[in-house]
Amino acid sequence: MQTDRDETAHGAHRHGHGDHGHAHDGHGHGDHGGPGGHRTHRFSADHAERLLSEERAQSFPPGAALRNAGVGPGMTVIDLGCGPGFFTIPARHVVGAAGHVIAADVQPEMLDHLRGRLSQAGIADVDVVLATEGQVPVAGAVADVVFAAFVLHEANDPGAFLAECARLVKPGGAVAIIEWRHDVDLEIRADHRIAVPVIAAHAAAAGLDRHEVQVLDDARVLVRLTRGIP
Ligand SMILES: C[S@@+](CC[C@H](N)C(=O)[O-])C[C@H]1O[C@@H](n2cnc3c(N)ncnc32)[C@H](O)[C@@H]1O
Repeated sequence: MQTDRDETAHGAHRHGHGDHGHAHDGHGHGDHGGPGGHRTHRFSADHAERLLSEERAQSFPPGAALRNAGVGPGMTVIDLGCGPGFFTIPARHVVGAAGHVIAADVQPEMLDHLRGRLSQAGIADVDVVLATEGQVPVAGAVADVVFAAFVLHEANDPGAFLAECARLVKPGGAVAIIEWRHDVDLEIRADHRIAVPVIAAHAAAAGLDRHEVQVLDDARVLVRLTRGIP
């Protein structure tokens, strides 16, 4: 039986990743019917701390994930679906003073959490913006990398989400999607995962017609989406 990944669970594929907060604890799953009956399962801001655990940072170092995604010094990065900022602050360190990080999320509570962490860290130059489903209030073609980790499977409409990512990315830039692997047996519900061919098909429809897949570890995959040369 497939279950939600729960921080209280044990076992190599269940314990310690912390990217998944849809526990069977009745506290704010945020499940609701989306268009066409699609059920979203938004990571509850009540569980934001799970995303920031030391265990998660050890098992999935954010700086390495960002570099694998192609983030480097001087770049402009949009951390889309940033949550409380597990990747946002490391992204600011990777891009450095010459770079720029924009963090966006649909949950204001997540952004409040992030703002608190940024101010504690003495970082004043990260832009924090409230998005709506499929719309980020940022000008087009600004990002070298649009980075979305464990977000796409939460989107009501993955095609619209990727079309918005395609709008935000500069020519020559990339959209980096990190998700749970679909090609191995993980104790994560199927509707909390999205297969690479599905990601690639939605991306191609949005004009991101090239994809490169990196298996990051036993549970996570990175898909870098770019535009081919016309
Ligand atoms: C599982 S959390 C991951 C947070 C962060 N990326 C991380 O890995 O620590 C997913 C986040 O995506 C946000 N989210 C869901 N759908 C979104 C959308 N369509 N646009 C922007 N953010 C979204 C949720 O509010 C939540 O904060």
